[in-house]
Amino acid sequence: MIPMVNLQAQYTDIKDEIERGMAETIAACSFILGPNVQAFEKEAADYLGVRHAIGCASGTDALHLALLAEGIGPGDEVITSAFTFIATAEAIKYVGATPVFVDIDPCTFNITPETIENAITPKTRAVMPVHLFGQPADIIAIQAICQRHGLKLIEDCAQSFGASVDGIQTGAFGDAAGFSFFPSKNLGCFGDGGLVTTQCDVAAAKIRQYRNHGSDVRYYHDVIGYNSRLDELQAVVLRAKLKRIDHYNAARRHAAQRYSAQLAGLPLQTPHEDGVGVHVYHQYTVLCDRRDDVMSALQAKQIACAVYYPVPLHQQNVFKAECVGVSLPVTESVAARCFSLPICANLADDSVDTITGVIRSVFDAG
Ligand SMILES: Cc1ncc(COP(=O)(O)O)c(C=O)c1O
Repeated sequence: MIPMVNLQAQYTDIKDEIERGMAETIAACSFILGPNVQAFEKEAADYLGVRHAIGCASGTDALHLALLAEGIGPGDEVITSAFTFIATAEAIKYVGATPVFVDIDPCTFNITPETIENAITPKTRAVMPVHLFGQPADIIAIQAICQRHGLKLIEDCAQSFGASVDGIQTGAFGDAAGFSFFPSKNLGCFGDGGLVTTQCDVAAAKIRQYRNHGSDVRYYHDVIGYNSRLDELQAVVLRAKLKRIDHYNAARRHAAQRYSAQLAGLPLQTPHEDGVGVHVYHQYTVLCDRRDDVMSALQAKQIACAVYYPVPLHQQNVFKAECVGVSLPVTESVAARCFSLPICANLADDSVDTITGVIRSVFDAG
């Protein structure tokens, strides 16, 4: 059995450090916004090269808090991708704004400067690119569009912790960005967790208030906020894993390169790197006209594989009515042909070899 992600193996490596940190936290009974959350926020800000990193309860909340802090609200349009997890668009809806879905690049699966620019209207207030599967969007060009049109740039970095462009981390380009620490993410905790980053002191102050019941000083409340704090025990886990994130991401890149070398020449599209951004392979996703055949062959050999995402957001029941007439041909074609193979920091070379062998056998059999 080869799972999509082997979290047990990763845990075994760092078990002692995590258990020690958890025992200390439990003994100190400092469970809410304690020393580990504070230390993690500082360590994450340093790693990401941002002025502020603010822990919160999930990646979904991180995007929501980022939009709130940037003042996005009812009547505003936010340009984003339909080829993403629902949370990207949910956050836009939470603030009462309207997601405007635009098409993606067929190689990187990210929204493009062209598709964004064509969708700008007088109501557009923000652009929310997703660095999908760990591959940075064309963020420098997108940043320039936002500056030219006076739009806020909010990065969805849920899948891109450690990805960079020109040596700058994703999450450091936008007015604000949201990260997810869902367990299977490149930097994952033992439950839900998230992080908002920003270079702006004013936005950071708002995000800190919003995540903690609209309060800076206990029992004094300036705005209606949320209970969206990063849990102290999760911060213990994140501090241990953050120290090792470059090693984890390098191992993912190694596995991806091995996959791509072995799958070369087969009738499927392997991930494309643009040579500028550093892809951290949250997912290793390929396109194939014979998706069902290949996935069935893998499953028959107890090898996990999955379709992220089978139904683009503009075609989901929840958005269908407001997206009548929206046509995103590249997104639709990619959703119909994509599937992802196991990838994580502990994926052994011989597992990659086994997986690619099974895929090759499908095509050899004709
Ligand atoms: C692209 C994207 N955005 C947002 C989220 C939301 O993160 P969370 O699950 O931590 O709320 C996810 C998580 O799966 C995601 O993949």
